[in-house]
Amino acid sequence: MKTKTPKNIPIYKYPQDLATKRGVNGLGLFAKVPMKKGDCIIEYIGEVINDKEANNRGGRYLFQTSKDRHIDGTTRSNIARYINHSCRPNCEVDIIKGRVFVYAKRKIEPGEELAYDYGKEYWDEHIKPKGCGCVKCVEKRSLVK
Ligand SMILES: C[S@@+](CC[C@H](N)C(=O)[O-])C[C@H]1O[C@@H](n2cnc3c(N)ncnc32)[C@H](O)[C@@H]1O
Ligand SMILES: [Zn+2]
Repeated sequence: MKTKTPKNIPIYKYPQDLATKRGVNGLGLFAKVPMKKGDCIIEYIGEVINDKEANNRGGRYLFQTSKDRHIDGTTRSNIARYINHSCRPNCEVDIIKGRVFVYAKRKIEPGEELAYDYGKEYWDEHIKPKGCGCVKCVEKRSLVK
């Protein structure tokens, strides 16, 4: 019988199944084991703060979950904070009752970097000014040259 993975229970653990490595976009999170499409990989955890506090704190690790709620993922125990942005992502996020889970969008092979689409607001503010370093954008730029 085929068993379905529960939607909000991450099934991969750090450091057994996930590795952090430095690359062109700073640290990134990589798969050490094969992952199936739809697998719940990891939860983005941290302190839940309101919009005013998020604006005061700023930073690269804020994840907005609703109009007035953000997760400050700065804590080092939040391994999901190392997942970089991609314009051709192999992961996607889902917000379930204010909690953020990262899922495999397709089959992922060991050694692949995990990435999801950060969304337009974050991309415009933090990625665009320095240039997106995801594989899709790097390929696109090399073709234009
Ligand atoms: C949540 S952190 C991801 C982990 C980060 N690389 C680190 O070393 O801590 C988001 C930051 O990583 C960098 N980053 C992530 N994806 C990127 C991309 N596709 N291109 C350029 N920089 C990226 C940006 O500095 C962004 O603000
Ligand atoms: Zn890109």
